[in-house]
Amino acid sequence: MKILGISAHYHDSAAALVVDGVPVAAVQEERLSRRKNDAGFPLNAVEWCLDHAKLDPGDLDAVVFYERSMLKFARILTCTLRAFPQSWRSFPHAMKNSLGEKVWVRGLIASHLGVDRRKILFTGHHEAHAAAAFLASPSRRAAILTADGVGEWATLTAGTGARGEKTTISLLREVRFPHSLGMLYSTFTAYLGFAVNEDEYKVMGLAAYGRPTMVDQVRKVIRRTPDGAFAIVPEYFEYQTTAARSYSSSFVDLFGPPRPSYEPIDVATAEGRRFADIAASVQRVLEDTLVDIARALQQETKLPDLCFGGGVALNGLANARILAESGFERVFVPPAPGDAGCALGAALYADRVYFNNPDRDIPDHPFWGPAVDAAHLARAAREDDQHVDELDDAALVERVADHLAANRIVGWMDGASEYGPRALGHRSLLAAPHAIAMRDRLNRDVKHREEFRPFAPVVTAEAADRYFELPAGGARLARFMSGVFPVRPEWRTKLAAVTHVDGSARVQVLERSMAPRLHALLEAYGRRSGIPVLLNTSFNVAGEPIVNTALEGYSTFRRCGIDALVAGPAIVTKRATASAKREHVA
Ligand SMILES: [Fe+2]
Repeated sequence: MKILGISAHYHDSAAALVVDGVPVAAVQEERLSRRKNDAGFPLNAVEWCLDHAKLDPGDLDAVVFYERSMLKFARILTCTLRAFPQSWRSFPHAMKNSLGEKVWVRGLIASHLGVDRRKILFTGHHEAHAAAAFLASPSRRAAILTADGVGEWATLTAGTGARGEKTTISLLREVRFPHSLGMLYSTFTAYLGFAVNEDEYKVMGLAAYGRPTMVDQVRKVIRRTPDGAFAIVPEYFEYQTTAARSYSSSFVDLFGPPRPSYEPIDVATAEGRRFADIAASVQRVLEDTLVDIARALQQETKLPDLCFGGGVALNGLANARILAESGFERVFVPPAPGDAGCALGAALYADRVYFNNPDRDIPDHPFWGPAVDAAHLARAAREDDQHVDELDDAALVERVADHLAANRIVGWMDGASEYGPRALGHRSLLAAPHAIAMRDRLNRDVKHREEFRPFAPVVTAEAADRYFELPAGGARLARFMSGVFPVRPEWRTKLAAVTHVDGSARVQVLERSMAPRLHALLEAYGRRSGIPVLLNTSFNVAGEPIVNTALEGYSTFRRCGIDALVAGPAIVTKRATASAKREHVA
């Protein structure tokens, strides 16, 4: 059975194709359209998925959309009307947005793809999140938690899943809009001058510079309820009535003036520290709330495994605390827990639950996107008069390790691209993890981004415990970079470029089978430096999506301070680096 899943229209559109119960292709629209966080209907992604599997739309048995668009529209309508007359301005806006193509998804899909309307199905938004988290995990029976901004009405769900004769996903309870941990965090993201739905991780990065001195104030705007859930206090928020503003004047009275987005953050100043303290405080409240909810779910279900999905599951600090404190032995967060991952979640949900197809194990990796074309790289670089070598795997790995040991920054493209927001070894920028100067150089010359944001390390699974304090289950959470863990104190100075100000790192623990070439490179680098750890950051510059094709990688390489670029057997070095090396050898 061939099932196409689609997520679209709010942020991070994507398409995913499941054939006979197993994913064969999945990609975010932004990687192909080259518009970051592209929310449009994912025509490019759909086309690529079908091309990749050599299918026509008519071959599909079903197309599944990741939420019930009419229900979502009803929520927007209800909230807007309920807030009348305060929201009269936003009413036409909501109508225009929702009455556009977003509501008429069935007709839209039918006309775009030319498929029979009867083949078009809808899952609940959180069912898609739950399926992405549970069905792609190795767990056969697990508690399931999802948390995000909002889908149709739900913002958090808790339940269980079972795979076997019959697959079930039972979401037992939910928290409904406007009560939302995701919206709470996004409101603080906006207040702190960052871009909502994009920069939430900057709040987490900033939190490490602050102390949670304003937890009491945060608890004034979101209260715990007797049933173990939470409720926002509406007077502090405006997102429930208008898309134009997320917090109210009462919120500003409580926390002080918001940060203008154009002003740099300087944590050495009192004002900078206030913002860092606020970030630390909302981070603490988010973590405490999730840990309590997860602990109650563990006690209720008595299950050892938790599958956690939804955009909130991108918060690696919260995930690590859930693992450490909730009583679950293993926590699975998929590589794409956010809305992009819902395309795959929706397709899997339809396959297992709607069509009741047999359970299948899903390969435990994130590499479902387009493969990099190394021949394109070699040709483009030669035409551009750059230095190109084509080497066998072993020689290539040794050459790249030499570059890294000489403090060069390497663009590393290998096979199919990652599904989800993180570079996990197929579209990565790699560098030596030791010196602060490397972090600063990457921020300044390559990534063009804020200084307070940390870079992440990647380490071989065999050596991970030596450098990082991983609790039981920690390596699993770190498989897709979903947890933040302490760097062992004795290694922090030697891993300064990847250790955050609070001594932590969002480490990727790499098993050989997931990305063998990168694993070999880590070992080769370890033979040179004594430490099989590299700095691993996504291969893009600020404001652009992660590179997809070899030519996009090449264009980025030419525009910024990357010294060497790899795809397949081809390695390109910048002329300056190549001649410097020759001089050095001579
Ligand atoms: Fe979502």
